[in-house]
Order: sequence, then structure tokens, then C-alpha cells
Amino acid sequence: MSSLNKKFPRLLPTPIKKNMRVADLVDTAFKAYNGGRLAEACRLFSEKMIAGDGVVGMSLTGALTPAGLGISAIIPLMKAGFVDWIISTGANLYHDLHYGLGMQLYAGSPFLDDVALRRDGIIRIYDVLFDYDVLLDTDAFVRQVIQGPEFQHTMATDEFHYLLGRYVYERERLLGVKETSVLSAAYQFGVPIFTSSPGDSSIGMNVAAMALRDSKLLIDVNRDVNQTAAIVYAAKSGGATSSVFILGGGSPKNFMLQTEPQIQEVMGIEERGHDYFLQCTDARPDTGGLSGATPGEAVSWGKIDPDNLPDCVVCYADSTITLPIITAYALSKAAPRKLKRLYDQRDKQYEALRTQYFKHGQVEKIGHRTDLAKPKSGRSGRSVTGKKRSA
Ligand SMILES: NC(=O)c1ccc[n+]([C@@H]2O[C@H](COP(=O)([O-])OP(=O)(O)OC[C@H]3O[C@@H](n4cnc5c(N)ncnc54)[C@H](O)[C@@H]3O)[C@@H](O)[C@H]2O)c1
Repeated sequence: MSSLNKKFPRLLPTPIKKNMRVADLVDTAFKAYNGGRLAEACRLFSEKMIAGDGVVGMSLTGALTPAGLGISAIIPLMKAGFVDWIISTGANLYHDLHYGLGMQLYAGSPFLDDVALRRDGIIRIYDVLFDYDVLLDTDAFVRQVIQGPEFQHTMATDEFHYLLGRYVYERERLLGVKETSVLSAAYQFGVPIFTSSPGDSSIGMNVAAMALRDSKLLIDVNRDVNQTAAIVYAAKSGGATSSVFILGGGSPKNFMLQTEPQIQEVMGIEERGHDYFLQCTDARPDTGGLSGATPGEAVSWGKIDPDNLPDCVVCYADSTITLPIITAYALSKAAPRKLKRLYDQRDKQYEALRTQYFKHGQVEKIGHRTDLAKPKSGRSGRSVTGKKRSA
């Protein structure tokens, strides 16, 4: 008799039935390859990442909001208290504005004549279509809004998005609609949203153009780096877990993960890394790029707690498939959580990190610690991936 049964669950699916629930389908039919990884992702998210007071950061890349995933998945996750803070590309926030402003996007086709589309003033994101006026009207909205007095100073992107979200929320109220925009929902639920490359989107382009006029709005990227680290430090020092839910990869993936090296390597504060890592991506690891870098590689940087490596999941599948499934699974398996409203705690968390930095940080080289890679006691047993822990 093989010893496999002691190490792994038996691979035994059940037949798919009529009217099956998403969670049941995932648990009984997603057994191997990326289906297996997606099932592990669902369980990791629902059973560990959102367990208790665990703090969950989500990073967004790829054209997710144009595809409607803001409304279908990201807002429900925020509303249920399952996503506490976000790092997004500017593009996802810019295209989110179209929905919040009541504009129309269409489910088209990837097989259209782009020269004809250009002539007809139609924009294409793969199979998503909308009028060029959608861009022009959204740009005008951004330019008009950021003329307000509350925008006339240097600020981090979480504050910028909060202020912008309030205007989108007001527009939703005028239109008589609700929960159409991630920015508006984040404003209402106190979910801080950062962007790692503020100049690299149409939002940044409009901010830049207004700087040529008399706008005083400048983005404080240092505050973004320290504020995101402060969120993670507050979670870990308060005894909660810190999890990263990475959609795609890109600069937002690194911006979320670098919070741990910022705490340990740069600020000299003792920490072990994020507790749980979940990524859905098409990026491969063998090119050396950060988008495809595995959780194992992240462990070597101190980004992920080595104790939890068996629980980390990478699912190589399109986010437009994985995100709705993970969302449906979590909403049906876990009770909604009290909103953490991290935005309301931003100054307090920032000051707490600054205090620790002045206690431990220095300008000179910081001593290298290797003891943090040793496993903590009492962490043995089987992980959600079915793999045995090494401890
Ligand atoms: N109008 C705009 O404002 C606009 C439009 C497009 C892009 N941009 C900017 O360009 C930059 C790049 O953005 P991007 O989001 O296109 O990132 P990207 O194409 O660099 O993708 C990042 C990573 O995510 C992966 N990925 C992308 N889509 C995925 C999906 N559906 N499923 C799984 N993995 C996926 C990619 O393979 C890559 O590894 C950003 O700074 C963004 O703001 C701006």
C-alpha cells in the first residue's frame, strides 16, 4: 500500500449536477492543474485570508474594471469586508469612473476592424467597446473635480482616490444608482486605494495637464510607500494576519509585497513577511520578471512568511474567470466581516510606523538577521493545498 494517502487527499470528483452551486462545483469538480489551484485559491481566501481579523490587500492589474469586474466582484468583496485595502493600476480606476458616471460600455468582439473603429470613434479593449466620448467626458470630469480646493496640495494616492471617490459617490446619487464604482464604494466603505504609478494612466495624464495651469495637486509617492507599509505593520503588530490577493502582477504586485522589505530591510523593524499569498496570473516565473515571481521567490526577499509557504497559491488563469469564482465561493462560505475602515486610521497607523522606525531604523547599514527564516513552533499540519508543512 502506497504512503500517498497519508500525504495527499484522494483525487475523487463527483458528477456535476443540474443547478449546482459555484462553491459545490469548485469543491467537487476542480481537482487538478489550474482547476485544482483555483479550488485551493477559493479555500485559502475563504478559510484563512479572511479568517478572524486578517487584513487583506488586493492588487489589481489587467483591464478588470472595463470588463465589469468592479461591479460584479470587487465591490461585493469590499462590501462584505473581505478586501481591506487595494493597490490598483491607474487604468482600472480610470475605467471604473465610466461606470460610476453612468457611461456605457459594450460587450463587443475582439474580431473587429480597428481602422474602422478608429474612423467611427470607437475604443476597443479586446472585446470591450465604448465611444471615444467616454474618454473625453471622463477626462473632463477628472479635470473639473481636481480644481476643488481640497485637491490643492501634495497628497498620497489613498487621499486622492478618497476625495475622487466622494465626487463619484455624489454623481451616483444624482443618477439614482448604487455600487457601480470601486472608487465610490471605497469612499463609502473606508477602503484605502493606492496606485503604484500615479503618472501612468489617464487620471495621471489629466492631473499632469492641470499642473500646467494653476493646480497645486502633487502626488506624494513617499507617503504611499510608507502608508502601505504602515497598514501591514499595524496588522502584524496587532496580532492579525496580513494577506495579499494579487490579480495579474505588474507594479501593483510589487508595491503590495514590498511593504515587508520596507519594514524589515529598510526600517530595521523585526517582521516575518505577509502570511498568505494568492495570485491569479498568466505571467510565467522563468523570465525573472516580478509579475511571474513565485511565493517561494518572495520568501527569499522576506516578503512572505516562510512558515506559510505551503499555503500560498498561484493560479495560472485569467482573472476574468478566477475572480468571479473566488468571490462567489467566499460569499457563500464565509459570513460578512465588520468593515475595518482602514482609511479612517491612516494617520494613526502612519504615526505608529514612524515611531517604530525611529526606534529601530538607522542611516547606516542594518545588520542581517537569518533567524527569522526559522519556523515558528506549533505550525505543523496540512495546509489548504494538501501539502504537509515542513515545521
Ligand atoms: N487609459 C489608461 O489609463 C490606461 C489603459 C491601459 C493601461 N494603462 C497603464 O498601463 C500600465 C499597465 O497596466 P496593465 O493593467 O495593462 O498591466 P500589464 O499588462 O502590465 O499586466 C500586469 C500583469 O498582469 C497580467 N495580466 C493582465 N491581465 C490579466 C488577466 N486578465 N488575467 C491574469 N493575468 C493578467 C499580465 O500578464 C502581467 O503579468 C498601468 O500603469 C496602467 O495604469 C493606462
